[in-house]
Amino acid sequence: MTDADHPHGRRPVPGAEEPAPRRSPLRLEITAATERLAAAGVDSARVDAELLAAHVLGTERARLPMIPLVDQDLVARFHGLVDRRATREPLQHITGRAHLGPIEVAVGPGVFVPRPETELLHAWALAYLQTLPAGRAPVVVDLCTGSGALALAIAHSRPDARVYAVESSPEALAWARRNAEERTAAGDTPITLVHGDVTEADLLDELDAEVDVVVANPPYVPTSAEVSAEVAEHDPPAAVFAGQDGLAVIRPMVFTIARLLRIGGAVGVEHDDTNGGAVADLFRARRVFGEVAEHPDLAGRPRFVVARRVPTEAEARWYRPEPAD
Ligand SMILES: C[S@@+](CC[C@H](N)C(=O)[O-])C[C@H]1O[C@@H](n2cnc3c(N)ncnc32)[C@H](O)[C@@H]1O
Repeated sequence: MTDADHPHGRRPVPGAEEPAPRRSPLRLEITAATERLAAAGVDSARVDAELLAAHVLGTERARLPMIPLVDQDLVARFHGLVDRRATREPLQHITGRAHLGPIEVAVGPGVFVPRPETELLHAWALAYLQTLPAGRAPVVVDLCTGSGALALAIAHSRPDARVYAVESSPEALAWARRNAEERTAAGDTPITLVHGDVTEADLLDELDAEVDVVVANPPYVPTSAEVSAEVAEHDPPAAVFAGQDGLAVIRPMVFTIARLLRIGGAVGVEHDDTNGGAVADLFRARRVFGEVAEHPDLAGRPRFVVARRVPTEAEARWYRPEPAD
């Protein structure tokens, strides 16, 4: 090999080290990215900068302090992702993943990104399912499933449940299908995905009066409400907005829920924080519902309403509750 054959045009001096590629302190890169994102109006700038760094490095956020220096090619990739986030593209569209409860789902353009608020509804549904008598498979319906996250998270924790998930948008349904296949491949009980409108009078009528739990995180933002750039430009409008009062989907959906629930069954519906009382009133207005209760989120804002399907006067003559365990 001559000097000219060598990739750097020079033969290495025996015993001498190749110059190490330049490396950057990760901490400084994250600080710079945080400032950049904060200046772009990103609320959770530090967290997002750390999550993007963790994504590029293929590690968890908690492990970042153990990585002092990073190679230039990774720094360049990190800068590229921070640039995208600075345009207010949602973090989860950049990483391609979102979490709900114990599971992760794929998300991107065309589907609503599951939000932390929905963790509360998920926890409520699991706690309610635990109160049901063992020995028969509970039936769960997730109305307005989007990516399928809520239905799939419940199916993961309750492999004995028969879980149905309804979605009207073909784009969102394609994401839900992909996520359902991923979860089944990981060993979870398959769910049943239904392309349908939750306000339709005959939706899932084969399950009339057989459902133990209905959960729903439907579109609920009043059309006049101001939303962040991430929501305005990246969430599908049909996933977010629901008429002037934010109740355009919930109002008719209450009829569907009344039909689907078995006597004693329960429903939890997430709603806009301006609508806690209004959603509770929609349930109270129907005599088939009782035990209507409003639940706040971690910030103390009204976030979801629950109700039980109670027997009507006529049903009370023959109805006997299932014995609890
Ligand atoms: C706020 S997103 C929630 C998605 C999912 N439940 C979650 O928590 O991530 C509402 C979803 O309802 C769907 N949707 C809107 N109107 C609907 C309707 N009438 N019937 C069925 N799905 C509907 C939207 O396409 C969207 O995917």
